[in-house]
Amino acid sequence: MTVAQPTYVNEKANRDLSMIPGSNGLPFIGQTFDFIDDNLGMTLANYKKYGPVFRMSLVFQNIVNTVGPEFLRQVSLDQAKVFSSQAGWEGMVGEFFQGSLIVQDFENHRMQRRLMQTAFKAESLHGYIHSINNIVQASLKQWPKQEPMLFYPAVKRLLLDIAAKVFLGAQLEEQNERINGAFVDFANGATSIVKKNWPGFAYHKGLKGRQVLDNFIRQRIDEKRQGDGTDMFSHFCREKNDTGDYYSHQEITDHVLFLLFAAHDTTTSALTMAMQLLAEHQDWQTELRDTIGRIETDIPTFDQLGRNIPLLDYTFKEVLRLYPPVPGLIRRTIKPCEIGGYEVPAHTMVGTSISANHHLPEYWHEPFKFDPMRFSESRAEHKQHKFLWAPFGGGGHKCIGLHFADMLFKSVLLNLLKTHRVQFADSKQASGKILYVPFTRPKDNLPLVLISER
Ligand code: HEM
Repeated sequence: MTVAQPTYVNEKANRDLSMIPGSNGLPFIGQTFDFIDDNLGMTLANYKKYGPVFRMSLVFQNIVNTVGPEFLRQVSLDQAKVFSSQAGWEGMVGEFFQGSLIVQDFENHRMQRRLMQTAFKAESLHGYIHSINNIVQASLKQWPKQEPMLFYPAVKRLLLDIAAKVFLGAQLEEQNERINGAFVDFANGATSIVKKNWPGFAYHKGLKGRQVLDNFIRQRIDEKRQGDGTDMFSHFCREKNDTGDYYSHQEITDHVLFLLFAAHDTTTSALTMAMQLLAEHQDWQTELRDTIGRIETDIPTFDQLGRNIPLLDYTFKEVLRLYPPVPGLIRRTIKPCEIGGYEVPAHTMVGTSISANHHLPEYWHEPFKFDPMRFSESRAEHKQHKFLWAPFGGGGHKCIGLHFADMLFKSVLLNLLKTHRVQFADSKQASGKILYVPFTRPKDNLPLVLISER
């Protein structure tokens, strides 16, 4: 079913933000380079200088940015139906993610999100965990021990193998390298800063990768629909919309493509930053390993990976607090509204920060310190406001894969730490440079040594 574009998407963006305090930065590029270099530092500096609502200019867009959990609530819950995710994200990722959930609004979004319901139900998640554990354990066996390895590319590859199996079903294995290559090009293109479809540019290569993946997925829909597969793609193919019809080939393809992207780099970032923090904080790693060592199973279940290992849960939360893979949300107003006492016109880009909220000293004790126990029952710093700790966003577009990400993160950590201690390959690494764009990771790709223990 083709849905007509809402008219507000084609309206010209409002660029006059002179009523909002802040700075537009340099001509044309605005503050893009500062944002790429250290978006958290820049956002917190603006917050301190101008208050919780300020204007900024990024990649040719003028944006009203906001800091504070109340703004995250206003923008993500969007009770007044003012904020369009489609008009917000489309300029940045539109060509890559046309038709995906993130570029759908309101009623149409709700109808499209239904396509994913079965694949993310608890019983489906229970089913995926066995495959995940098996792939994690097989990869761990192959990773080098007692000698340096680059963790970031290794975990990226591991998560691609998991995505192939759990999202698409096993067929991918036959053509793994070609499809993996297309996926890497696709993800790089989608997050490239220079959005020009010119030969030689990442954007151009990315669109070609998209085409390869698109064909791969589309050709398998009918077969998946007839089968009884339990991978996510099979669930999508069998799902029906409000009128009782299957979703179209186009809709399924668009959703699978976005899902592969949304799941992969975010979780890779979270696991990489977790390893960096655990290598840096050996005392915490020892406590966590002791707890994990007491679990008497080689194949952890979904329930074991849930909240039942509190120290593992606090680690997950603290990693995502310090380094949220998605640092903020972006929307565009479809009608005039009020934000923090300012009248904001229709068609204005509005951002709301997740990463700055995770570092506000008015809520967090020593916000830059790695301190997983802040999430313990007795301290529960995150419970001061429902939208304070929000790495998965909130409201209608809240991450549909949050339980999957939680389970995947914990499966990798549990399997790895049960039998290994993690150390930096070089003691100077702890203060190494971190890249924030497109997703947070250490610039040196995190050289680690896995020491076999137990
Ligand atoms: C640590 C890992 C992850 C983080 C931090 C994360 C974060 C987010 C955030 C903040 C949003 C909301 C974006 C917005 O409102 O503009 C989002 C949406 C989404 N995420 Fe995740 N995500 C993660 C992993 C995953 C995984 C594993 C999947 C799938 C298996 C997934 C699928 C999606 C989808 C489909 C959406 C769009 C939902 C919608 O628009 O209705 N994500 N994610």
